[in-house]
Amino acid sequence: MDANRIAVQAENLHKSYVLGASAVGALRGVDLTVAKGEFVVIMGPSGCGKTTLLNLMGALDLPSRGALLVDAVDLTSLSDDRLADLRRDRIGYVFQFFNLIPTLTALENVEIPMQFKGVSRRERRERALALLERVGLKDRADHKPSELSGGEQQRVAIARALANRPALVLLDEPTGDLDTATGKQILALLGDLNAREGVTIVIATHDPTVSAVASRVVRLRDGRIESDSAAVPMASPVPTPPSASPNPA
Ligand SMILES: Nc1ncnc2c1ncn2[C@@H]1O[C@H](COP(=O)(O)OP(=O)(O)OP(=O)(O)O)[C@@H](O)[C@H]1O
Ligand SMILES: [Mg+2]
Repeated sequence: MDANRIAVQAENLHKSYVLGASAVGALRGVDLTVAKGEFVVIMGPSGCGKTTLLNLMGALDLPSRGALLVDAVDLTSLSDDRLADLRRDRIGYVFQFFNLIPTLTALENVEIPMQFKGVSRRERRERALALLERVGLKDRADHKPSELSGGEQQRVAIARALANRPALVLLDEPTGDLDTATGKQILALLGDLNAREGVTIVIATHDPTVSAVASRVVRLRDGRIESDSAAVPMASPVPTPPSASPNPA
């Protein structure tokens, strides 16, 4: 694939956590290329490595082995400062429990990444308001996280993740804590961002309803990719047993 079209490229990615004398191989040789504009869902049982993979893509942690390019930058070659810049400028991360700052309002929470970037007060206020409007929360701008519902907090976290116009938005269990209807709203919002603004989205989740809206589903098991819907575009036609189609067209 043309390098300009690649959002994430992982090759033989390994991540081990060492605890005392034992090591856990959380990722054990993952190869994954995500093109710009894709909407990818990573699924798999608890402990299979979803959050670990998301954290590596989000430059929150470094691989033990293998290569990882995000937005055409090799993460393993960057200094801590450059990694921080990349996180601030190119990546939006939505944590499972939102991680909003409790003492700040919704508006101020969305402004934070722009403040770190040195965007003027006026400009960041304007953009933060526009983003809150985008997620349907303009009238909650002055609420603190404790004065918002779970779904509203999640939408503030999404608005904050979009603040610096990231190339890649990563979400860890974005519907995990929400009721079905609210989860659907969040998914519709993400689908819309992806379709209308071409934001590359990668979601880690247990929730099968999330995979229904994705253009691609990657399944992990024991730190390895078990299946990838994009890797087999039409290689495996489903055989139709004769008895299954009593009324052939
Ligand atoms: N900081 C850590 N130190 C040691 N082991 C860890 C650490 N983080 C994760 N692990 C281990 O790595 C493996 C993968 O964890 P990870 O959090 O990526 O799983 P997951 O697929 O996100 O699971 P879940 O669906 O429960 O969130 C697990 O076996 C876990 O115990
Ligand atoms: Mg997880």
